[in-house]
Amino acid sequence: MIDAFRRLYGSADSVRVFRAPGRVNLIGEHTDYNLGFVLPVALDLATFVAGAPSPDGKLRIHSEDRRESVEWPLSEVSALSPRRHWSDYPIGVAQELIRAGFTLQPLNLLIHSTVPEGSGLSSSAALEVSTALCLLQGRPMGPLDLARLCQRAERSFVGMPCGIMDQYISVFGREHAAVCIDCRSLESQVVPLPEGIEFVAVNTMVKHELASSAYRERTEQCAAAVQAIRRQYPAVESLRDVTPEMFEQAEASLPAVIARRARHVVSEDARVTQFMSACRQGDLVRMGELFEASHRSLQHDYEVSCDELDFLVDAALGLEGVYGARMTGGGFGGCTVNMMRPDAVTHFRRQIAQAYHERFGIHPQMYDCRPSSGAEEEKNIESISPAARLGS
Ligand code: GLA
Repeated sequence: MIDAFRRLYGSADSVRVFRAPGRVNLIGEHTDYNLGFVLPVALDLATFVAGAPSPDGKLRIHSEDRRESVEWPLSEVSALSPRRHWSDYPIGVAQELIRAGFTLQPLNLLIHSTVPEGSGLSSSAALEVSTALCLLQGRPMGPLDLARLCQRAERSFVGMPCGIMDQYISVFGREHAAVCIDCRSLESQVVPLPEGIEFVAVNTMVKHELASSAYRERTEQCAAAVQAIRRQYPAVESLRDVTPEMFEQAEASLPAVIARRARHVVSEDARVTQFMSACRQGDLVRMGELFEASHRSLQHDYEVSCDELDFLVDAALGLEGVYGARMTGGGFGGCTVNMMRPDAVTHFRRQIAQAYHERFGIHPQMYDCRPSSGAEEEKNIESISPAARLGS
């Protein structure tokens, strides 16, 4: 990246590089905007943003992966409007920083990401968080404020009414562990993963058109469920407040579709708690069962799966050594996450690749999910001498 930066901008003096990871969510899907629980893992797939002061008062952003640059005089950044372009993410973040009272410096930025776009592994949050850190250039901001600022950028500028999970885990990720986030209190708990399992994400390589409109529709249906349930239980403010018993009492009074959506959210929240206790007990079989139950609920009640995801889940569940499989992220494409014995991984990869290709004519990418730490500055680049950098 340093070499690419130098080639692009003529000098890499004073360059600083910031990294923010993507994530895979183990369980707790579509619960974050209902203020419930999620259990994501930060990945070693990440977005890197390199930045150095620009001498001409401009903010310049180059995406290495898109091979495309954008630039504006810094004074114009606060007035820009979204244009459904990759630069909406960094610009949204820049505007939120300005709104939060930070004076931005003119910078040249270079973005490079190893989080596959459209894969449901949260490339957007990784871009937002790494950009925010780079624009801050080392000025302090509390980690929770950072996550919330990036979520606001996505909600208000990009226009995606997302929950807090992706930005939160990108900031708070931990090595060797998942993080259980309480999306109401915004407190979290580190959840060490038991020995003897591997998580592998499989990419359908598709993202259906429906994804963002259906996401918005689900948030509206959840709000409608809350309104209806409040008639019986006035203290309910979000689906987080609805226990499985309360849901049973209220179910008959809800329109059928709304009832299914609420049933998913209420049961999924309970599954997160059950999954964590199975995790603590090292009960791998139970963890796998909860994975599958989560997928079926997303498939039939929340209706955010698709043929490709269902095929991958069903194929995985038929393989030796696989404890569980489910879609992960928003749905309508993206990835499944699969939990298996370490000695099953090679066979799993081969069988799944072959079966998916036979059925859909597509080679699925696969990623070993290695739980990684949250966003930070890449300090080690300072130890690389200019000569060594040039030689690389
Ligand atoms: C997307 C959103 C998250 C979350 C998931 C579904 O990734 O960005 O906030 O709602 O979908 O769990």
